Amino acid sequence: MEEIKGLRKYELPPLPYKLDGLEPYISKDIVDVHYNAHHKGYVNTANNLIERLNGIIKEEVKSYDIHGVLRNLTFNINGDKLHTLYWKDMAPEGKGGGKPGGKLGDLIDQQYGNFDKFKKLFTEASNSNPGTGWAVLTYDKENSNLQIMTVENHFMNHLAEMPIVLILDEFEHAYYLQYKNKRPDYITAWWNLVNWDEAESKLGEILK
Ligand SMILES: [Fe+2]
Repeated sequence: MEEIKGLRKYELPPLPYKLDGLEPYISKDIVDVHYNAHHKGYVNTANNLIERLNGIIKEEVKSYDIHGVLRNLTFNINGDKLHTLYWKDMAPEGKGGGKPGGKLGDLIDQQYGNFDKFKKLFTEASNSNPGTGWAVLTYDKENSNLQIMTVENHFMNHLAEMPIVLILDEFEHAYYLQYKNKRPDYITAWWNLVNWDEAESKLGEILK
């Protein structure tokens, strides 16, 4: 692949734990395929599409579907960004789960009454996502509110102005090898992995 002057390639970030670090809640096989095939695929495809776009701009390609290329590029760049957040939002070896403390814990208590009510609403939103997508907790700086949202695909139904505090991957590749069609069981298991320190750190960056 030809280097594009001044443009850094996307790179697969290191997985923050070993492939079996999320067991028993998410199996080694799932993490292996999810990280080494899916996430890596988004990174590689993003780089290939940028190269293709560069060729189009230089008029080396005479016939193209520019909308398709841009849409695909958005999908793959977001795929990299969202998965990078997703891996970090889980903690290995029994260090995840429980309840958030700090500013995030306070905000959840203020807005939702208590953590269990928030967990119920986030789980309901996750279970309502009709197909491939994500459940996210975002922060609306304009109104100083946490917001539970669902993202369809990699980019629909989410405002870029509302940064992500916590994210859950709901694509079938995230759970099917272990949970088959029982996505609610995967979501229930995921709560045991949530890295609240990471979520608190992201909220701190947003509130700076
Ligand atoms: Fe995924």
